[in-house]
Amino acid sequence: MAESVTITDNRTGESLEIPIVDGGVDSSQWKKLLGNTWFYDPAYTQTAATSSAITEIDGENGILRYRGYPIEELAEKSSYLEVAYLLIFGELPTEDQFAEWVHDITYHTFIHENVRKRFLEGFHHDAHPMGMLVSAIAALSTFYPNAKEIDDEDNRYRQTVRLIAKMPTLAAACHRFSVGQPFVYPDNSLGFTANFLSMMWKIAEPRYDANYALAHALDTLFILHADHELNCGTATMRMIASSNSDPYSSAAGAAAALYGPRHGGANEAVIRMLNRIGSIDNVNSFVEGVKNGDEKLMGFGHRVYKNYDPRARIIKQTADEVFAVTGKNPLLDIALKLEEVALEDDYFKSRKLYPNVDFYSGLIYQAMGFPTEMFTVLFAIPRMSGWLAHWKELMEQDQKIARPRQLYVGAGERSFVELGDR
Ligand code: CMC
Repeated sequence: MAESVTITDNRTGESLEIPIVDGGVDSSQWKKLLGNTWFYDPAYTQTAATSSAITEIDGENGILRYRGYPIEELAEKSSYLEVAYLLIFGELPTEDQFAEWVHDITYHTFIHENVRKRFLEGFHHDAHPMGMLVSAIAALSTFYPNAKEIDDEDNRYRQTVRLIAKMPTLAAACHRFSVGQPFVYPDNSLGFTANFLSMMWKIAEPRYDANYALAHALDTLFILHADHELNCGTATMRMIASSNSDPYSSAAGAAAALYGPRHGGANEAVIRMLNRIGSIDNVNSFVEGVKNGDEKLMGFGHRVYKNYDPRARIIKQTADEVFAVTGKNPLLDIALKLEEVALEDDYFKSRKLYPNVDFYSGLIYQAMGFPTEMFTVLFAIPRMSGWLAHWKELMEQDQKIARPRQLYVGAGERSFVELGDR
């Protein structure tokens, strides 16, 4: 069977055979025959905007791999910083490479005093931490103006390290401000996740030692959230970076995309939904409401997965480890019942709607004491490594500026009418 498609322009009778390469057909070939007849694909449901060697998702079979390694193995055996290295550089680090990587990240955890004192403290007292984080990431570009030198590989490495290292510091600073507590400086004697928990929760003790099981569980969640190929946020990162913007500005755009409730904001929306349902007795009527189109079942459904999201399966196991320390989140029973009812219902079965990564993650975050507003921030911390892996790949691919076309459906030419004559 030929691995190609043949297209025919019925206006001219001309045909062209285009090879299928890596599961796609090259649009420049298409353009040869069809010129200015564009693909109409507003939500990119059928468009591959790049080739990428970072993350592979097989949505039909519920498979997720980073650089070829199954997510299940990475979650069990690796750590977030090792996974970040893998995503960005393509291979697992040697011991020496890993030691240098951890050193470099640790060395850059501090943020400029003005970012916190002048910038973050200028927000309204009830500012959403995700809104603060998006702005703070963008603001960093003004503190590191040489980040614009994107053709310099060493410079790119420095900005990469800075962005990964500063995310927990910025995230914790946003939280401390929103609850009126003093900022906690990074403790570079701690690991990445333990240091973040110290900046979140430390009060007056000289050193905050996080519960090992909780720090480990959060690190696992960071691994699961680190990358997910061309989702809305990552596509935004690549879109902005394609204009040769600096990585801080690009990452701020990616974080803004992540903020939305259809994307990374869903974990927050799940908890609000479970609170509204209130009791397992109300689950059936809630599901009926979803089927009637009154609302969405948050934490369910995915553009790519038409099977159980493998991350949700791992998160469910991690939840048990966390609840063993914190006590069970009372919303868990509602979530389990909701999943059970939905997975048996034809509405969800026929549409292949399964729990996604956000369905159970919020329950863990809540049990660990994070306020709901911090949930998407917790998603953004590790996703930074995925965004930067895509940025590095894009820079090395030397792609053109991303510039989709539109199908114009507005008014034809008409003459201006003076204000008084309208
Ligand atoms: N609850 C109820 N119905 C749903 C849901 C849901 N959560 N998701 C999709 N559907 C229905 C949808 O109404 C449509 O039905 P019909 O064919 O009758 O019109 C059908 O399923 C196909 O859905 P779609 O809207 O075409 O799917 P999409 O690929 O455009 O949207 C999604 C994907 C994730 C935005 C959507 O499933 C959704 O809004 N889910 C809830 C929000 C959520 O959990 N988001 C987190 C995604 S995972 C984390 C991340 O990547 O950020």
